[in-house]
Amino acid sequence: MERSIQTISPEEAERQRFFTEEIRSLPQKPSSYFVVTYGCQMNAHDSEKIAGMLEGMGIHEAESREEADFVIFNTCCVRENAERKALGNITWLKEVRKRNPNLMIAVCGCMIQEPGMAEVILRQYRFINLAFGTSNLHKFPELLYRALNANSNTVAVEDRDVIPEDLPIVRARKEFAYVTVMYGCNNFCSYCIVPYVRGRERSRDPERILREAGELCENGVREIMLLGQNVNSYGKDLQDGTSFPSLLRQLDALGIPRIRFMTSHPKDLSDELIETMAGAKHILPQFHLPVQSGSNSILHAMNRHYTREQYLDRVDTLRRAIPGIGLSTDIIVGFPGETEQDFRDTLDLVDRVRYDSAFTFVYSPRVGTAAASMAGQIPPDVSSRRIQELIRLQESLQQDTMKRFVGTEEEVLVEGLSRRSRSEVSGKGKHGISVTLPGSEEDIGHILRCRITGLKNNTLTAER
Ligand code: 5AD
Ligand code: SF4
Repeated sequence: MERSIQTISPEEAERQRFFTEEIRSLPQKPSSYFVVTYGCQMNAHDSEKIAGMLEGMGIHEAESREEADFVIFNTCCVRENAERKALGNITWLKEVRKRNPNLMIAVCGCMIQEPGMAEVILRQYRFINLAFGTSNLHKFPELLYRALNANSNTVAVEDRDVIPEDLPIVRARKEFAYVTVMYGCNNFCSYCIVPYVRGRERSRDPERILREAGELCENGVREIMLLGQNVNSYGKDLQDGTSFPSLLRQLDALGIPRIRFMTSHPKDLSDELIETMAGAKHILPQFHLPVQSGSNSILHAMNRHYTREQYLDRVDTLRRAIPGIGLSTDIIVGFPGETEQDFRDTLDLVDRVRYDSAFTFVYSPRVGTAAASMAGQIPPDVSSRRIQELIRLQESLQQDTMKRFVGTEEEVLVEGLSRRSRSEVSGKGKHGISVTLPGSEEDIGHILRCRITGLKNNTLTAER
């Protein structure tokens, strides 16, 4: 099916500004909001946009969800437990509403975009005032206006891929900002629901990305994280020949001190990108490269389009070009048909690569994906044993891998006071690893030079 992809039009943007103003003057508008975010960085960034739109309506953030009279759940559906957690919390709010009849509840994000979910909300969760999918995010002011004036719940989901531009954003941190470079995914990995809920790949106009990044730089942002489900295919849908490496080179020239990006698909990781990173001044020596499995037959069944040998070659090339690079990954265990040998292949790959961190998941069947109806679904006790073994291996290797930083110089962007002590701060080093070092509140938002002295759990410790 052809989908129409377009940036939201000036008329549409004007329409949403109109509803923003209308809500501002509504006597029955909520006075405070709280956004509860589940899932990935994309969702975290969408929540910053929701907050931006609400502030524009004169509705301000509450200290906690208990104090808010408008609670928004920005949901994730990538695994079943993310969904279950969200639904559990939403149901809990139903009780809260009995005490506060004016409480408004909105649910948005990927879960709402799942086929059939809108009907479920209408039927089973009648107490939800407003539900809208990711494709309707830019229409939030209009939808909220409708919900505030309606007696029944308002549900909006569209099967249309848009590129939302110019939405107001309240950024969670002063020194760090997410910048979306592309939306959606075309890969249809057989386990993954993302292409169904976030639509087809669509790249933002490079001029807009550069303008946004330039403004962030002028406003003192020290680090940007470029976001996309598969940033390596950025630009394939553009007419002007911009690719991800060429975008990176232009961003690097702006002078923002630190640039990171995620996520990359190994099949699209080009030599040009690696060379660009190696030659850049501000792109951090860090790479998130999800492998998902170390077994060729499972990789094939996952529709990943690379072999373990090709993956290992990409890792070698990255390490040769950028010595000491920080590597992280995502791994799924218990994919349908995964034999003990397939799992051993995953352990073996992890042992060979020696990641600085790994996000490990038990396969979770998602309705509508190809893998959900594959033969050979793995019993939970087997998956659970496998993931524990994988975590144990990763933890033992990680301690060893991270030792390479001890004695080296690092630059840390300070995020906040350390949880352990008020005379320590913590933040991320260039390689993407958490570092704790002596400091105070005044250091937050600054990049500090330090020397790594040791290792505590998965955090590096340093002195200045
Ligand atoms: N089950 C388990 N893990 C999944 N992921 C995506 N879909 C599923 C699923 N159905 C994992 C992948 C992906 C990460 C964001 O979530 O490892 O890289
Ligand atoms: Fe999902 Fe695969 Fe797309 Fe990543 S690349 S979002 S795992 S379909």
